[in-house]
Amino acid sequence: MEFILVTQQARPHVALIQLNRPKELNALNLQLMAELRDALKELDQNEEVRAIVLTGNERAFAAGADIKQMAGKTAIDMLHIDQFSTWDQIKKTKKPLIAAVSGFALGGGCELAMTCDMIIASETAQFGQPEIKIGVMPGAGGTQRLTRALGKARAMEMVLTGKSISAREAEKHGLVNRVVPVELHLEEAFKLAGEIAQLSPVAVKLAKESVNRAFEAHLEEGLHFERKNFYLTFASEDQTEGMAAFVEKRQPVFKGR
Ligand code: HXC
Repeated sequence: MEFILVTQQARPHVALIQLNRPKELNALNLQLMAELRDALKELDQNEEVRAIVLTGNERAFAAGADIKQMAGKTAIDMLHIDQFSTWDQIKKTKKPLIAAVSGFALGGGCELAMTCDMIIASETAQFGQPEIKIGVMPGAGGTQRLTRALGKARAMEMVLTGKSISAREAEKHGLVNRVVPVELHLEEAFKLAGEIAQLSPVAVKLAKESVNRAFEAHLEEGLHFERKNFYLTFASEDQTEGMAAFVEKRQPVFKGR
């Protein structure tokens, strides 16, 4: 592993993964993400491990996907690179994953923190989706998870302006579990992980899966449902009539067929 450090038993039954590209503020290049995926898969299968803490360093959890690696890519390049299959696998981690966040959690960094099950933030943590400032938008769940955590108005403002929020604001709106002094944030994450690690790993795994269901299943089902019904309207005479009336600049006559 070149860009992450893994400690299998950082505390009893608790593993630690540290993102380790400090000079680049832990910018998430493809190799780092692949290493993270592989490490999580291995820890998920290791029976000695019952909870996992993911951290960066004091200055940065992660300042986003690696812009230098993405610059110059075309849409088709991005499609072939298919980085989101790595993110999908990370999301499938069955054991509790706790982010210990200090400093920048921006773009993909904020999305990675939100992909974790819980977030312990240091007082210096800042969360943001600045992609709009570089002519793109969040791609790893930011528009969805931030909106669910903060509500539409606040998420919209963050995503459309690229402005970050402080750890305290994130705590106030339920994006993070709690905020602690910077020197304590990793210890606080270990404490939470350790507490969970004492409980039944089976029940914990199933409970995590269930909470995620409440959080994620509805949206996908909702979108799917909406799309199917949208298509179904095109089987009605009312759709033909409604659109024809618009084009012909007259009032439609709907018959319920
Ligand atoms: C590549 C990055 C980087 C990034 C920082 N660096 N963020 N490299 N990708 N996302 C590099 C800088 O180029 C610099 O290296 C070094 O890290 C230190 O950064 P500085 O900018 O010198 O530090 P500072 O002035 O303190 O500013 C910190 C910062 C700024 C505000 C966080 O670095 C910044 O705005 N970074 C980009 C944040 C961002 O836009 N993130 C979203 C990315 S898009 P050199 O060698 O030049 O000195 C994204 C899409 C996700 O995340 C969707 C798919 C996963």
